[in-house]
Amino acid sequence: MCGIVGYIGENEAAPILLRALKRLEYRGYDSAGLVVVDNDLACYKDKGMIDALEQNLPKISGKIGLGHTRWATHGKPSKENAHPFLDCKGKIGIIHNGIIENHLELRSQLIKEGHKFTSETDTEALVHLIEKHYNGNLEKAVKESLKQVHGSYAIAVIHKDENDNIVAARCESPLVIGIGSKENFIASDIAALLDYTNKVAYVMDNEVVKLTRNGFEISTVQGEPVSRNVETISWSMEDAEKGGYEHYMLKEIFEQPMAIHNSLLGRIPDLTINEFMNGKFTTIRIIACGTSYHAGLIGKYIFENFSKVPVVVEMGSEYRYSEPIHENTLVVLITQSGETADTLAAAREAKRRGNMTIAITNVVGSSITREVDYTFYTRAGPEIGVAATKTFITQLVALYILGITFGLIKRTLEYDKIREHTSTLRKLPRYAQSVLDEAEHIKKCALTMVDATDVFYIGRNINYPTALEGALKFKEISYIHAEGYPAGELKHGPLALLTPQTPVVAIAPKDHTYDKLLGNISEVSARGSPVIAIGYQDDTELSKLADNVIYVPEVPPLFSPVPISVVVQLLAYYVARERKCSIDKPRHLAKSVTVE
Ligand code: G6P
Repeated sequence: MCGIVGYIGENEAAPILLRALKRLEYRGYDSAGLVVVDNDLACYKDKGMIDALEQNLPKISGKIGLGHTRWATHGKPSKENAHPFLDCKGKIGIIHNGIIENHLELRSQLIKEGHKFTSETDTEALVHLIEKHYNGNLEKAVKESLKQVHGSYAIAVIHKDENDNIVAARCESPLVIGIGSKENFIASDIAALLDYTNKVAYVMDNEVVKLTRNGFEISTVQGEPVSRNVETISWSMEDAEKGGYEHYMLKEIFEQPMAIHNSLLGRIPDLTINEFMNGKFTTIRIIACGTSYHAGLIGKYIFENFSKVPVVVEMGSEYRYSEPIHENTLVVLITQSGETADTLAAAREAKRRGNMTIAITNVVGSSITREVDYTFYTRAGPEIGVAATKTFITQLVALYILGITFGLIKRTLEYDKIREHTSTLRKLPRYAQSVLDEAEHIKKCALTMVDATDVFYIGRNINYPTALEGALKFKEISYIHAEGYPAGELKHGPLALLTPQTPVVAIAPKDHTYDKLLGNISEVSARGSPVIAIGYQDDTELSKLADNVIYVPEVPPLFSPVPISVVVQLLAYYVARERKCSIDKPRHLAKSVTVE
């Protein structure tokens, strides 16, 4: 979510770090900073973009240093929360990308031991922990500290008294070494390195790197030495920014297992919500726009099932002009950007009506967070493609977590059920990955729809909204008209439109509506429409009825929108790609819509 870079060599570090950071701005840019080893550590950071940091930077000299561009997950974007962080004595500097899951526990222990914290971030706990373990050897201190840390991280650390090395480490967040001549680099992304070298070595999970001017050594956190080949890459800068993928959208689709994982880290269920809720609500009203509205429709099924509270879902643009009965209503606003004007206006209106409000958003410190009582961050990382993918999937994760929490508050979920649901949640990254592993097959199915005039997506129950989202993704990037429909409603009109040029994507997991859905597939086949069915692995019925079948792992039906959403995203992507559409920036659309 953040971009990190470290340099050690014979040149001045600051200009190199600044240039590399500019290459990483696409990873997020709410604040930035750098630290260079001079006589002391010289550390500069501020809110805003890299240009602002550069303009205000005094002349600093030093041939080893670290730089960071931040996309906030813990603590609002501010100078205090910007990286790097220093220890109490100002001798150790750290930059971090990821989430330290047990940071609150570490923080309170370290404060008890006398450490002084200056920010709200999870990262700061780590620099104080390293300070605690430091005994003249930075690498050892980092390894000792990491044994106490849970979460995901790519870190780089320097010590004022060790100006011949940078220590870096990785667990579940990307980290790559760049190898130059008498200079070496460490970074979260290849894009940061390409101006200087195309020779790289990848750092793997649970590994620690000691980077010097002339080389690098890798060992595991436990101390086992590791050997690693150096690779030469031939990516252009544009390739590197997209992580080697052809489009940001595809990169973001493939980032979903990691995004789901980050979203779940340390919060099943999110008990902090208890602190502001009194459990008095008798209705939940979900308000959102676009793709977030579809997440909200799925949320209705989740909340009603888990907490037995009736849920109404409304579009931001409609809510303001409605006159709902609003006593004892909990309002949940979903917006990936946190800036959609209609959703913001709805949040204000909900407050005016005296409702408790929760926001689900991806952008720390965004406008919605200032309007609501409680914010749940989705932690998907920056999403550049206009068509929402990983922000949508993590909104679903947020809804499952909130649903379990409401179930606890309302005492409607038995302990066994909670265990079952949390165990499914933990497996979601794997389920999403197994869909991605089938991308080639999904592509083949998608290519059968390239010349369609219209496409219908049909589903029932919790996958009716998945059908709506599939159709939205499809039309917004391929420019082919698509409609999502409740499968049972086709016979009340749309059947009249079916022809061999109107393929139907039928979402058919084995839930309590499955048999009915099979009937609907027969209905559309009989009208000559080609059918792509999406169903559970080992389902032998679907292939008898549909022209093509895409299988997803069998998950409890309430969780099926997660793997199925990955399928519909890929279907839309491959059709749009084949039609040479502008995928990352579809015509007439914007990532966040700040007008009503
Ligand atoms: C725009 C975007 C959509 C998004 C919608 C709501 O139309 O193109 O992808 O779903 O806004 O945005 P929000 O930031 O509120 O989720």
